[in-house]
Amino acid sequence: MHANGVASFLQASHGKLRGRPVFAFFLIRILVSCLLSPLACAKDSVVFIEKQKVWVLQSGEATYAFGVNERGELQHLYWGMRLSTQDLTSARSLPEWSSFDLSTTTTPQEYPGWGAGLYVEPALKATFANGNREVVLHYLDHNIENNDLEITLKDEISALLVHLHYRVHPDNGIIERSARIENRTSEAVTVESAQSAAWTLPDDHSYQLHYLTGRWAGEWQLQSESLQVGKRVIESRRGSTGNDANPWFEIDQSDETDESHGPVWFGELGWSGSWRFTIERTASGQCRVVGGYNPFDFGYRLAPGETLQTPPFYAGFTDRGRGEASRMLHRFQLERILPGSPHPRVRPVLYNSWEATEFNVDEAGQMALAEKASRLGVERFVVDDGWFGQRNNDHAGLGDWYVNPQKFPHGLKPLIDRVHQLGMDFGLWVEPEMVNPDSDLYRKHLDWAMNFPGRPRTEGRNQLVLNLARDDVKEYIFSWLDRLVTENDIALLKWDYNRNWSEQGWAEASLADQKKIWVRYVLNLYDIIDRLRSKHPRLEIEGCSGGGARVDLGMLRRVDQVWPSDNTDALDRLIIQYGFTEAYTPHVMMAWVTDVPNGINGRVTPLPFRFLVAMSGALGIGGNLNKWTDDEMAAASKMITFYKQIRATVQDGHLHRLRSPMESDFTAVQYLAQDSQQVVVFAYLHSQQFGQSMPLLHLQDLAEDAMYSVTSIDGKVEENTRKFSGAYLMHHGIQFRLRGDYDATAVRLDRVP
Ligand code: GLA
Repeated sequence: MHANGVASFLQASHGKLRGRPVFAFFLIRILVSCLLSPLACAKDSVVFIEKQKVWVLQSGEATYAFGVNERGELQHLYWGMRLSTQDLTSARSLPEWSSFDLSTTTTPQEYPGWGAGLYVEPALKATFANGNREVVLHYLDHNIENNDLEITLKDEISALLVHLHYRVHPDNGIIERSARIENRTSEAVTVESAQSAAWTLPDDHSYQLHYLTGRWAGEWQLQSESLQVGKRVIESRRGSTGNDANPWFEIDQSDETDESHGPVWFGELGWSGSWRFTIERTASGQCRVVGGYNPFDFGYRLAPGETLQTPPFYAGFTDRGRGEASRMLHRFQLERILPGSPHPRVRPVLYNSWEATEFNVDEAGQMALAEKASRLGVERFVVDDGWFGQRNNDHAGLGDWYVNPQKFPHGLKPLIDRVHQLGMDFGLWVEPEMVNPDSDLYRKHLDWAMNFPGRPRTEGRNQLVLNLARDDVKEYIFSWLDRLVTENDIALLKWDYNRNWSEQGWAEASLADQKKIWVRYVLNLYDIIDRLRSKHPRLEIEGCSGGGARVDLGMLRRVDQVWPSDNTDALDRLIIQYGFTEAYTPHVMMAWVTDVPNGINGRVTPLPFRFLVAMSGALGIGGNLNKWTDDEMAAASKMITFYKQIRATVQDGHLHRLRSPMESDFTAVQYLAQDSQQVVVFAYLHSQQFGQSMPLLHLQDLAEDAMYSVTSIDGKVEENTRKFSGAYLMHHGIQFRLRGDYDATAVRLDRVP
């Protein structure tokens, strides 16, 4: 709709009682848009039922539907198992419960603005130039193109528009939503809360919420609790995704749902800055999840004509349990999100020297490690922190991205050449968004670090955050990274980010725009990575934030793998990796084999146990190979050979979490290849007591009459030479022979004709 169209509409609606004026208007708009584009009304995945004014999104096994009610609001109708379009009828607003809970608040809106007696969590809150602080959104227009639906809503009084975008990913069962807020008024509007979506679940009284929390070295802890009346907020105010919570949720019906059965509603956000989910259950039993930019300290001023785009919020539904919910997300990430999707490149086995050398990197030492790594079958050699500036510890050097001449007198080239000769490619650690006060960069550009002028600056790990919202800072970072990658043959950058924001000021921006830092920083970060990748298409990136503090679908669009945690203790990792795979695919889950006693907790676990835990994701080696015995080198080499036979299944297959490490001492995971030709099972025993043997392990989702040959990594499985039918493996179960403490095994089952 054009601006003068909005103006005449405004005149027409001005002065009428709230809720009545728009109905005739939108009827005409709908009719016109269907006449102009008859096909658009009949797509499979996005269907518009004109008579009822209802949109039906068909995604995988699920149906999602909403319509325009008699007040002109976009009202949620249904989200659950697939229905036919005939099953759905028009939206009618719900009655008020009392004078305290008016119909405006009892009626579930798809994207409620704060106004007109709305007491549930709003999706949009704004203040107008004249001081008015309410937004009441009514349907204006829509457009369907293939799997995309755009609905335009308009404030009932002003020309503030919201363009809701729905994209259906029918093969993955995922619906993607976002909103674009457009100021068509003639004065500035300040947006104080801009959410990506409000997801409404069916009314129910026994919901269970699952979410992920953590801290450094203890990320990805799965939390489960019954959803009580009130609001449960999970969020980050840290400027980045954070590790204290991750922007992922799952809600199921506690009495019906487990890993393999029952309804699950789930979602995750594509945003790497501060975010918030408000999971709300009202006293009348309604349940919704509202998520997007964190409204805390938010204030995005839109000049006339300006827009604000929210991040995408992806969600899905299955009635086949929590395992299936994870598999749907994994598949979606592999096919739609990750660089190279729908066929992201296989993760090579890498070696990273961080735990072996820490900051003591130099040419000779790294070459010696590279030689040993190549003997094991490692495919990528990564030099971590310490190679640049005066970086001899974590007190100095961040910001000075030149190769340290004492450590690498001839630059990185001799090392990179040697790594190539050894048959590996080369990776390098960077932390582009940070600066140590003890650095040339800081001394030259004091104002580049995020700060409130005249106030002290808080350091974390002796470093400050550069203000990437500034375009000069963004350009500086892009240019040195571009030069680094142009001048050196680098296959992977490990992109680290080791603290959160403080003193979130942006003094160079006008006073009214300074809070835009929460959004602009992240968009500029994305811009740097996107430009770098498009200029260097073979370059891969590992996302890291002191471990797993910045993993989200915004990052996963831009990085090939992530570092889930600095905690590499194999026992802790079982739980960390279990939580991680609730939300993210094992394809991106880097897992290293490191030395014992473990640096985080001093635990000693056997080498095969450490390997088998790391092999259930994207395998890396992080131990000091100079200290490994010949026997350890031989065992490692055998493990890596086995891993290469199974990694396509592990990285890109369907994960079934057979036994949780939180529930007993015996943990198991199964991966089924995309083409169903291979099954891989890992089993881990933490601690055996009273000589108890392992319970039979029942595999999942195999063809009953298919036959599988068994290859065990170490013979710890019943009758290793036999073939098993799918039916036997699923119904009878397979017996592993594990004993003592920290025992583990893996089998590969290949389908035979
Ligand atoms: C962070 C990362 C580690 C390592 C160090 C280097 O802690 O998570 O893997 O790269 O920084 O300083």
